[in-house]
Formats: sequence, structure tokens, C-alpha cells
Amino acid sequence: GHSEDALTRIRNIEMVELGRFRMVPWYFSPYPVELTRLPAIYLCEFCLKFLKSATCLRRHLEKCRIKHPPGNEIYRNDNLSFFEVDGRRNKFYAQNLCLLAKLFLDHKTLYYDTDPFLFYVMAEKDDRGFHIVGYFSKEKESADEYNVACILVLPPYQKKGYGRLLIEFSYELSKREGKTGSPEKPLSDLGLLSYRSFWSATIIEKLIEYKTTWQGNGQERPMLSVVDLSTMTSIRKEDVISTLQQLNLYKYYHGQYVIVITDEIKHVYEKMQRKIKVRIDPRRLQWTPRD
Ligand code: ACO
Ligand code: ZN
Repeated sequence: GHSEDALTRIRNIEMVELGRFRMVPWYFSPYPVELTRLPAIYLCEFCLKFLKSATCLRRHLEKCRIKHPPGNEIYRNDNLSFFEVDGRRNKFYAQNLCLLAKLFLDHKTLYYDTDPFLFYVMAEKDDRGFHIVGYFSKEKESADEYNVACILVLPPYQKKGYGRLLIEFSYELSKREGKTGSPEKPLSDLGLLSYRSFWSATIIEKLIEYKTTWQGNGQERPMLSVVDLSTMTSIRKEDVISTLQQLNLYKYYHGQYVIVITDEIKHVYEKMQRKIKVRIDPRRLQWTPRD
């Protein structure tokens, strides 16, 4: 939901240093006031503790032994890992992650109470440790069947396909749960762009994969319904329909809606396949839903 406070208050942090990156924040985040008038704040890239100077950070790093996010590593493929962090058991980390994320999210309420959330942190491994790339949070119980609350790729990693990986991962979790899901509203402009792109790619892929019947009138129709698509992908029915409509593949014929396939969409499919470089490999996900 909206937070009036966060919407009206202006950016309060000049610069954040995190590992080898320096980032200019986009929005307000409720860091303690003592930190707000400094030229930069310094974050431990592993536990996300915030400090007021480079010296303080150096001192912290001598004591801070962790080299990866807390919680369970539930996925690893090459150098890409996901950690599941419980907002109750790892409150310090979860709160620090929310503070960091808020710098790049304007319309989201910051949850001081992290207890009801799980945080799926994506990290890249090298010889120095697991470096946070981005994350999404997810309610442990969602009445509205949301499978993502907040999603973020840190600015230095944006526009490289990581957002797509986070989204794909969130739907893999939903598949394991045997549920459909959708991101919490409202979406940011960048969030909407990323979800539209993922939904289109995923649905087109299924349509092409499954056999089609030739209609004789220049049209091909897939042997799949909206419900089939939703079940196979865990994308909520409404999102499947809006995606089909956007792609102009959902037509009203003789009193009912049908899904059609066009030649144009086959070209879109080929272009997409070339563009997507890394994907989530579901076989590497070591995770079962809680009870
Ligand atoms: N301009 C145009 N298109 C963009 C941009 C951009 N700045 N950023 C992403 N896209 C498009 C890409 O072109 C791509 O589509 P395509 O493959 O069809 O070309 C698609 O979005 C995904 O691109 P990725 O590189 O995978 O996205 P990225 O790694 O940058 O992550 C994200 C996307 C998570 C939304 C990132 O921009 C971000 O963290 N933004 C700030 C926080 C935010 O707005 N989060 C979403 C809030 S809504 C919610 O939390 C439920
Ligand atoms: Zn630390």
C-alpha cells in the first residue's frame, strides 16, 4: 500500500557505498537522522549494517565474518545463488535490506515489521563471497495470493536481465506451491515493464511449444486455454488474459473468446529466445513449501 510519508518526503541520503559500488539513491528511506546529512553512508555488503564512515566500516569488516546473506541457500547455478531469509529469524538483516531497498522504491510501504515476510536474495559468488544483486520479498501467508511484495535489482546490476531472473524465480516457487500468484500492486513503471516482458515471453513460449490446430481461415489456434496457461506457468489468470490482449492474441469469435497465434508472434518468439541469456533451472531449486 501507499505510505503518505514516503511519497512526500524527499531524498535524504546523498550516496550509498556497498561493496565495490557507489549508488545515488532515488528516494527517501527512513535511515536514522544522524546519517542523513553525510556525503555518503557505508553498508557492509554481507550483513547490510549501515555505518557513518569508511573507517567505521573498516572496523566492522574486521569483526563481521559472514560472506553471504543469512538463511538457507536454496538455489545455485554456476555463480548465481538464492538465499531464503526469514524476516523473523533474521530481523537485523531483513530490516537493513528494507532500508536499502526503500532508496530505490518510492511507492512501497516500508515494513518495519519484517516478521510476516520471507526475503529471497539473489547473489553472485566470487572468491570474496556472495554479493547481493537484488531480492524480492514475499508474505508468508498472502490472502490476495501475491507471490511478490517488493522486488528490486540494485542499480549497478539493472537492465542486464536480473529482474527477469528474480521474477522467474518467484513463479518457480509458486509452481512448487501448486498455486498461481501475482505481484503486489501498485507496480512501479519499471516493475510493470519487467512483468509485462516476462509474462509475454512465458506465455508466447507455451503457445509455441504446444500443438496448434489449423483453422482453415488463415488462423492457428493453440490447444491451450487461459486456465491451462495459468496452471502451467503459475501466472494468475487475469495476468494471462491481459497479456494475451496486449499481444493481440485474444479474440472474440462467435460469442466466445479464443486464443489465436499469428506469424508475427513467431518472430517475436525467435527474437526473445535470442535475447534471454540466463534462465532459472528449476532442477537446481532445493526447496519445498512450508506445511
Ligand atoms: N527502460 C526500459 N525498459 C526497461 C528498463 C528501463 N529502464 N528496465 C527494465 N526494462 C525492461 C527490459 O527491457 C526488459 O524487457 P525486454 O526483455 O522485453 O527488453 C524487462 O524490463 C526486464 O529487464 P531486466 O534487465 O531483467 O530488469 P532489471 O534487472 O533492470 O530489473 C526492476 C527490473 C527489478 C524493476 C528494476 O528496474 C528495479 O529494481 N527498479 C527499482 C525498483 C522497482 O521499481 N521495483 C518494482 C516495484 S513493483 C513491486 O515491487 C511489486
Ligand atoms: Zn557485516
